[in-house]
Amino acid sequence: MKAIILKEYGLPNVLEIGEVAKPIPNDKEVLVRIHSASINDWDWGLVRGKPFVIRLFFGLKKPKINIPGVDVSGKIEAVGGKVSSFKIGDEIYCDLSECGCGGFAEYVCIPEDILSQKPSNMNYNDASALPHAGLLALQGLVEKGKVKSGQSILINGAGGGVGTLGIQILKSYGLKVTGVDSDEKLDLMKSLGFDSVMDYKKVDFTDTGEKYDLILDTKSNRSVFKYARSLKRHGTYITVGGSMYRLFEIFLLGSLISLFTGKKLSVLILKPNKGLDQISKLVEKGQIRPVVDGPYEFDKIPELIQFFGEGKHLGKIVVEIEK
Ligand SMILES: NC(=O)c1ccc[n+]([C@@H]2O[C@H](COP(=O)([O-])OP(=O)(O)OC[C@H]3O[C@@H](n4cnc5c(N)ncnc54)[C@H](OP(=O)(O)O)[C@@H]3O)[C@@H](O)[C@H]2O)c1
Repeated sequence: MKAIILKEYGLPNVLEIGEVAKPIPNDKEVLVRIHSASINDWDWGLVRGKPFVIRLFFGLKKPKINIPGVDVSGKIEAVGGKVSSFKIGDEIYCDLSECGCGGFAEYVCIPEDILSQKPSNMNYNDASALPHAGLLALQGLVEKGKVKSGQSILINGAGGGVGTLGIQILKSYGLKVTGVDSDEKLDLMKSLGFDSVMDYKKVDFTDTGEKYDLILDTKSNRSVFKYARSLKRHGTYITVGGSMYRLFEIFLLGSLISLFTGKKLSVLILKPNKGLDQISKLVEKGQIRPVVDGPYEFDKIPELIQFFGEGKHLGKIVVEIEK
């Protein structure tokens, strides 16, 4: 089968497009013909082996994962002997980050317990854009952030995958939401429902004096004290990503600040696939729909990962693997 092969760390042009053996599912796995896959920060990090912490888990000198790609949608072509919840022909989607990646290929074997049925009113391309970003948004805003109607909310880095899905989840609560990103993404953000937008290259939202009940950050790059100052009394700041130094600082000092101020500051660690059925329900009710950049062709994956790393995408970059 066709696959994108990672043999050594480097810029995405180290990736090779080649042929590898089609995988065979074990008793508890299904074999999926991948229809679509989306690109995530995870792929950008894995391919380069950066930040360094990635190498501690996935190989110090050479990557142990040889086919990147985590978010996929596709159709089941074969099932292992002990698979009970899915059958041949089912249309599924999921995040492969908890089972060794392998999404940038024609086929992958997936344990049945991480699969969700693809919502019937959503095509494969849209479905592949949802698992990683949709769940970071859902777990950040709803599960950990405990969003309530009447609150004022800010999403930083709001024009990417997490922010463009996050705003749609929030709109079902009838809230006022501010989004921060670069100038070229602000029109899209307004069209999705952000009530006000800011260009982070011109305005530092932590310097405006405005305070929020809940802040979801995808790009933490300021001092934890600045974030604390931007929260209302009992407010919550949750980050899902950013500079390792700042994440570490929030991790260490967040609970100390909480102790003295009652404000909560924390780092969210994604629980892959947890809540994907809830995402499916929001899709079925017509409440969320991903913003798709693409779909692009399979052979473009190396340059698309570079394009993602340079932050040129709008929403989620999607690759159509099977036409
Ligand atoms: N916590 C976990 O377990 C976990 C798991 C997976 C991923 N993640 C993290 O979650 C985040 C994923 O977010 P995503 O998929 O939405 O990423 P994304 O699509 O890359 O979106 C991030 C947005 O932030 C903007 N941005 C860049 N620098 C900024 C700054 N200083 N201030 C404000 N906005 C800025 C980018 O725009 P420009 O580039 O145009 O400026 C881009 O539109 C990443 O940080 C990733 O590392 C976390």
